Amino acid sequence: MSENMGIERFIRPDLVTFTGYAARKSPDTLEGKVEVPVESIIKLDANENPYGCSPRVSQALAAYPDLNIYPDDGQTRLRKLLEGYTGVDARHIVAGSGSNQLIDLVLRLLISKGDEVINCVPTFGIYRFSTELCGGTLVEVPRDENFAVKVGAVKAAISKRTKVIFLVNPNNPTGTLMPQKDILEILDTGLPVLIDEAYYEFSGQTVAPLLSQYENLMVLRTFSKWAGLAGLRVGYGLFPPKIADYLLRIKIPYNVNVAALVAVQESLKDINYLMSNVKAIIAERERLFGELKKLEWLKPFPSQANFILCSVLKGEAGELRQKLQDKGILVRYFDEPRLRNFIRISVGKPEHTDALIECLRQK
Ligand SMILES: Cc1ncc(COP(=O)(O)O)c(C=O)c1O
Repeated sequence: MSENMGIERFIRPDLVTFTGYAARKSPDTLEGKVEVPVESIIKLDANENPYGCSPRVSQALAAYPDLNIYPDDGQTRLRKLLEGYTGVDARHIVAGSGSNQLIDLVLRLLISKGDEVINCVPTFGIYRFSTELCGGTLVEVPRDENFAVKVGAVKAAISKRTKVIFLVNPNNPTGTLMPQKDILEILDTGLPVLIDEAYYEFSGQTVAPLLSQYENLMVLRTFSKWAGLAGLRVGYGLFPPKIADYLLRIKIPYNVNVAALVAVQESLKDINYLMSNVKAIIAERERLFGELKKLEWLKPFPSQANFILCSVLKGEAGELRQKLQDKGILVRYFDEPRLRNFIRISVGKPEHTDALIECLRQK
């Protein structure tokens, strides 16, 4: 039966050729395909936290009695906890099942078919994914040779159909920080600007204090990276209160589960522990950078996050990724216009750096 006569004829025409988001594969899928047992795989491909979450989280989850009860749809307690952490009034805050869900929600709120979204590439792939899923048009503004945002080019890309400008600070996968004056210049256009601060705890830079001055500023954060909760999916955004109200109205009911609420509560009781892990990751990032720099065939880029982007100057990055994977070390490989022959390495524990560097030296 031809495709358009089968069940596919009911699918939204613009989604028939939609390729989806290339999420990282779970190590389980590599069983038997790598030279080490799956449990020994060193996962440096998704910017996860190698120290895991606070031990308080696992204890509290094991003892939590009310899994049969829906969470509070209005996120009252969660938003209050996040108010305490961010210092931003709860009226501005909406939580999501990962900050990815908030990217999707913001676009659903702002984008009608054909509206434009400005994206400074190379950057995190989910902006393209969610924009296309919402029927929007992505307008890509290339970063400069050091991956800095070109503010003039962003402003020149604005049209009557521009509905949102995405900025990521620090940027994934480049690790680049954007100077605050550049962010202010883009905010001064008056268009909605979404600043993704997923790696804020590693960079220490935020524009959250500007929320009271800019009605067009939205800031996204996550517990996936600094708090080691990627598997539980919990992120949040800081929005103008009017936007927060709309987002709460259009989100699916109970979008953040009770386990995530418990995890946030316990993480925030254990900030010193979690931030000591963040400090260890930052120190390890600098050591990893130094070690990578010693390899004359790799060019690492300075990073303010928990990963390091590297240009592979000699040899094939795809082959390198495969060789590392065979040895049980997973890194992210890129093959796109501005990232030909690049890999990105998430910062692990010191022993992960040692194992990685040994493999790279043997290459
Ligand atoms: C820039 C950026 N934003 C958001 C996310 C996703 O965060 P979450 O796990 O909260 O959906 C990531 C994850 O890699 C990221 O790099």
